[in-house]
Amino acid sequence: MKVAVTGGAGFIGGNFVQYMVDKYPDYDIYNLDFLTYAGDLTKHKEIENNKNYHFIKVDIADRESIMSIFKEMQFDYVVHFAAESHVDRSISDPEIFIRTNVLGTQILLDAAKQMDVKKFVHVSTDEVYGELDFDPNTFFTEETPLRPNSPYSASKASSDFLVRAYHETYNLPVNITRCSNNYGPYHFPEKLIPLTISRVLNNEKVPVYGDGKNIRDWLHVYDHCSAIDIVMHEASSGEVYNIGGHNEKTNLEVVQTIIRTLGKSEDLIEFVEDRLGHDKRYAIDPTKLEKLGWKPKYHFDTGIEHTINWYLENKKWWEAIINEEYKKYFDEQYQIN
Ligand code: NAD
Ligand code: TYD
Repeated sequence: MKVAVTGGAGFIGGNFVQYMVDKYPDYDIYNLDFLTYAGDLTKHKEIENNKNYHFIKVDIADRESIMSIFKEMQFDYVVHFAAESHVDRSISDPEIFIRTNVLGTQILLDAAKQMDVKKFVHVSTDEVYGELDFDPNTFFTEETPLRPNSPYSASKASSDFLVRAYHETYNLPVNITRCSNNYGPYHFPEKLIPLTISRVLNNEKVPVYGDGKNIRDWLHVYDHCSAIDIVMHEASSGEVYNIGGHNEKTNLEVVQTIIRTLGKSEDLIEFVEDRLGHDKRYAIDPTKLEKLGWKPKYHFDTGIEHTINWYLENKKWWEAIINEEYKKYFDEQYQIN
C-alpha cells in the first residue's frame, strides 16, 4: 500500500507519518512537503532510515511536479494535511492561504483523479463551521452549515467544497475530517499551547487575547492520528467526520494550567488586544466518528501534562525554531517583550 501524506513535516502530518510508519510496516509512507517555515525534518530522525519511510520535497501548488510525482508513484491513499495553518498569519497576509489551501488542494484532487486511489482523506478543521456562542449544550455536528470567519477558515472551507465537488462530479473516493484544536509533541510555537510552554519556560510574558474567555476544544494529536487511521480504512466514501474529545477550556484556563504545572507566576500573563474576528467558542460533537469505533485516549489533564513533559525533554527541537525569523514574526505580531 502506498500512502501519500502531504504536510508530513508539519505538526499533525509529522505525528501521523510516525504513527503510520510504526503501525503499518508493510505500507510505504511518502511524506510530500515543501518545508515552509512550519515544516522540519529533524522530527523524523528516528524513522528517516526506515525502509517504509520516504520524503519528497514538493510544493502542492506546483501542478507539473505534483502530476508527475503522482503518475510515477501511483499512490493508493492520499492523506492531505499540507496547508498554511495559522489564523493570525492569515489575518496579516491571506494570499498564500488561498494559493496553498485552495489551489494546492485542487491540484492534488486532479492528480488523485488520474489514478485509481482508494481514498483521498482531506484533513480540515472545525473552524469552517464558524463560531458557537457560550451555551455549553451547543456543538458542531457534520450537519452544521459552513460559516467561516477568518481568511484561514474560509480557505479551508473552500477546499472542503472542492473535495465534495470532486466526489459528487467525478466520483473520487473521499472523506473530509474536521477536527478541533490539536496539541501535543512537535506543535509549532506560534500556536497558543506551545507558545505558552516555551515562553513560560523562558520566564517571558504570555500574550492572552482579549479577556481570555474564548473557548477551544482540545484534541491530543495522537488521538487525531488514530481517528484518521479509522476514517481512512473504515469510512464510506463521501462521508464527513468531526473529530473531538469533549475537552473544552477557556484560553485563560489553558495558560493558567501550564503556568501552574511549571511552578511559575501568573504575573507572566499579559492581556493583549483581541484578535480581529476572534471566534468565541468551538466545540465538537464526535458521535458519528465514535460509531465507527474511535475513542480518544487523552483527557486534557493527562494530555497537557504529557505535552509539557515533552517540551521539557525536547528543548533542542523548539529552541532551534525560535530563531531570528521567528523572533521577527513574534515582534510584529505582539508588542510585548
Ligand atoms: P503545520 O502548519 O504545522 O504544518 C503544515 C505543513 O504543510 C508544513 O510541514 C509545511 O511545510 C507544509 N506545507 C505548507 N505549504 C505547503 C505547500 N505549498 N506544499 C507542500 N507542503 C506545504 O500544520 P498542522 O497544525 O500540522 O495542520 C495540518 C492540517 O490540519 C492543516 O490542513 C490544518 O488546516 C489542519 N488542522 C490543524 C489544526 C491544529 O490544531 N493544528 C486543527 C484543525 C485542523
Ligand atoms: P491558536 O493556537 O492560534 O489556534 P486557533 O486560532 O486555530 O484556535 O489559538 C487558540 C486560541 O488562543 C485562540 O482563541 C486565540 C488564542 N491565542 C491567545 O490568546 N494568545 C496567543 O498568543 C495565541 C497564539 C492564541
